[in-house]
Formats: sequence, C-alpha cells, structure tokens
Amino acid sequence: MRLETYTGAPDQVETPLLVVLVPDGGPFAELATLSRATGDTLSQAVSSGDFLGRESDRFIGYQRGSRGPERVLFAGVGPLEAMSRSRMRSAAGKAVRAAEDLRLRSLALCLSFLGSEVEPGWVQASAEGLVLASWRFDELRSPPAVGDDPEDRPPLVEFALVVSLPLRSLERNVRVGHALATGENRARTLQARPGNVATPSRLAAEAAGIADEAGLQLDVLGPAEMEAEAMGALLSVARGSDEEPRLIVLRHDGGDPGAPPLVLVGKGLTFDAGGISIKPAKGMEDMKYDMSGGAAVLGAMFAIGRLGIPANVVGVVPSSENLLNGSATKPGDVIISRSGKSIEVINTDAEGRLILADALDYAEGWDPAAIVDCATLTGACVIALGHYRSALLGNDQALLTELQQAGEKADQPCWPLPLDREYRKQLESDVADLKNVGGRPAGTITAACFLSEFVGSTPWAHLDIAGTSYGKTEKPYLRNGPNGTPCRLLLEWVRARAGF
Ligand code: BES
Ligand code: ZN
Ligand code: ZN
Repeated sequence: MRLETYTGAPDQVETPLLVVLVPDGGPFAELATLSRATGDTLSQAVSSGDFLGRESDRFIGYQRGSRGPERVLFAGVGPLEAMSRSRMRSAAGKAVRAAEDLRLRSLALCLSFLGSEVEPGWVQASAEGLVLASWRFDELRSPPAVGDDPEDRPPLVEFALVVSLPLRSLERNVRVGHALATGENRARTLQARPGNVATPSRLAAEAAGIADEAGLQLDVLGPAEMEAEAMGALLSVARGSDEEPRLIVLRHDGGDPGAPPLVLVGKGLTFDAGGISIKPAKGMEDMKYDMSGGAAVLGAMFAIGRLGIPANVVGVVPSSENLLNGSATKPGDVIISRSGKSIEVINTDAEGRLILADALDYAEGWDPAAIVDCATLTGACVIALGHYRSALLGNDQALLTELQQAGEKADQPCWPLPLDREYRKQLESDVADLKNVGGRPAGTITAACFLSEFVGSTPWAHLDIAGTSYGKTEKPYLRNGPNGTPCRLLLEWVRARAGF
C-alpha cells in the first residue's frame, strides 16, 4: 500500500477523492478556495447550517475545473479541543470507507485545516487509520469475474496525506504510522488464515519471509532441537498432533552490540482443540485465532526491522497445534519443562502456558532487559474484561506502567490484574512442582502466576488478549474479525524504550 505526503495546496492535489477534515466551526474562510473549486456549494451548506464540522457532518462537492481533486468530501471531526490520536484513526478510517463506497482505488486525506498546531501523533494516527482500514483478507476466495458483483468494491491501494506544515518533521510520523499499521495488517492476515493453512511450519516459513523483507535474523527450532533443549512442556503439547511444532526466533540487532535485548514472546497455537480435554464443538473454529499473540509479535518484528529501531529486540513464537491422538498428553501426566520444573497436566486445554513456559525459559538465557509476552491464554479474561481491554500482569511495576501507557497511545488498552503470591497456592500439585491449572477462581491470574515461574527475576509482563485480539471489536478503521492486538501496543512500547 502506497502512502505519500504532500505539502502543496489542497486544491491542486490530483486525486479522485480529497477528504478534508474540518473541525467544528470551521475555519470556513480558509476553505473558500477549495469550496470555489467545487462550485462554491460548501458556503451554502455552511450558511444553511447543514455543514458545521460536527462529527457526523458530511458534504461532497465536485470539481468544476479541469485540475485538482475530482471530488472533495468535507468531513466534520467535531471540536478541535477533543481531537486525539484515536479520533484521528477513526476519521481516516471513515475516509477509507467513503472511498470504498465510491468504488475508488485511491484517496487523499487533508489535515491542513486542523489549526496551526497539528500534533505529530495525529499525523501518525491518520496514517495508521488509512492503512488499517484498507486491510482485507481475500486470499482464500476465488477471484470474482469482472463485473460479476455490482457491490464489489475494489481494494484501495494508494493514499496521500495532505499537510500544511514543514514536510520533513511530519514525514517521519507518516513513516512510523505506515510501518506500525503495515506490521499489524500482516499480523491480521496471519490470524485470519485457518488452521490447515497456518500450521506451525508455515508460520515459520512466513517468519522467514518477514526476516528477509525487514532485515532480521531468523532461527527456527524443530522437534529435534527442542529435544536437545529439553523443552518437555512445548513438546508435550505437540505430541497429539501430526504437524511438527516450531519455535520461531526473530532478532533485530539495532542497539549496541551486547546490550540486553527486549524480548517479545507470543503464543503461536495454530489450532486449539483442547487436546484430550477436548473443547465443545460450538465456536471451536475460532480457536484458529489461538496464534494471535504470535501473529502480533511477528507483525511487530516486521515493523521494528523496517523502521530500523535503535534497540536490540528479539521476537519469540512457540508454535504448535493442540489436538488429540494416541500419543497425546493425558490429564494427570507429569512432564518436565526446560527449566527443570515438573508440571502435572490436569487439563490439556491449558496448553498455552505450557508452550510459553519453555519459550520464556529459553528467552531468559539472553539475560533480557525485559520480557513481554502476549497470549490468548484464558476464557476467564474474556469474562473479566470483555472485548475492550487486555489483561496486564507482571513482576515489575515500572514495566507495567510503560505498557499501560503504550496501550493508551495505540488505542489497544490494557488493565492491570494483581499477581499476589497467595494465588500460587492454587497451582500446588500432589505429585509435581506445580500443576497447569488453578481451578475456576481467578483463572487469568493463576495462568499468569504459572508463567511467572519461568521468568526468574527478569522484569516481565504478560498480556492476556483472549477477548481483544479478534471478534466483535469493530472500530471505524477496523472491521470485526482479527485485529492484530497488541501489535501496535508492543511497537509503541519498544519505540518508547528505544527513544525512537
Ligand atoms: N486458547 C484458550 C483460551 C481462550 C478461550 C482464548 C477463549 C480465546 C477465547 C486456552 O488455551 C484455554 O483453553 N484455556 C482454558 C484454561 C482452563 C482449562 C484452565 C480456559 O480458559 O478455559
Ligand atoms: Zn486451550
Ligand atoms: Zn489455547
């Protein structure tokens, strides 16, 4: 998807559609030139009170001359005082929908009338909104015959942002927004792929592509390497499946050589049937999304490489299926994790924490500055926080605060849950060092408590994204379905850490 920045006069932009964002109350005098180019009907709409710049106000004018935008859509954004990154993403998303409704393939979005102080964060957010809104997943449909479907909208492929500030400083914000959203769209495509397409080995092949495109180092561990690493927990999940597991490691060496890395870990469970503790059939198809954490980490690593962020960052994605056959792990089985801790598997459906246990323990070996993991880990999290906020837990208050702030910036908000030592009691086993479930009370907390056993004293945080990474999470710039959460949150956190 192409995205360019223009600093020229808005009425000179050659585009089939110029969407002009207009705050509540104008500046209508400044809009006069554009209005004249389209027959001066805007002034009538303003004087009649039909268009005042309120959030739902819309007015379209058509070019009378031979140059400049073919159509101008004046789009109200409400009071300037209330403008924010989040509103900006939404305004850009609505502009994309308008262009789609007009069956257009390109669009220019004009930010020149948003007052003298357009915040760089708004520019970034508008780029994000354009790119996120135009994401589609068509790769598993047959191509429609031309003219077959009058409702079919061609995909948008070309965008321009029109701004009136000095170009140099803003181009960077456009570049950042574009990279963040492109990484996140990549994550969404991986999420959308069903379990028979996105197997662990195919996910690893995708990671190889990402490494190539973004200049990252790739390491992939298969079953033999996992055996050698004594990753008994990860291997115990993969036992019930014909598909081999993979542990994907993507490295971006953008910081000082030898400086402790930031590690992002994502659950890459490509299909979770529950194993021998099999899930009910209803809605099980959604368990193709059980690799959403892994997808977000791969998407984030893509953007980190593309942007050349000055930090050492490692992305780790343990990937497996959770199915059942004659070799599958059984309830009551005791397995030995890479860390040496023995785990009594009470419920084979609590598999995410098992594959993460070995991945976290592996990551510990690099002596990281911090580890952040994200996982569709517990149904309990959906009950606690629904589809708006992810759960945030960890062992380091400063890190938790950073992540919460990054979540607000990215509009992928999270909220802390406690991780008191008291909850550890629920994981005590009669036969092993710990068991993999803590019963129904505080399910999200006991899951995080389990993970905490494998990170030692490294600053670590965990995001439970079971309710937030897919499903009914519609926004003006996001259709329902896979949404890439928490890819942008992770990126804002890494940017903040790197001072980028
Ligand atoms: N992948 C699921 C969690 C999940 C549930 C994600 C709903 C998205 C939506 C996870 O592996 C799981 O099955 N967890 C169990 C744990 C339980 C057995 C302790 C759960 O939450 O029911
Ligand atoms: Zn499960
Ligand atoms: Zn799962």
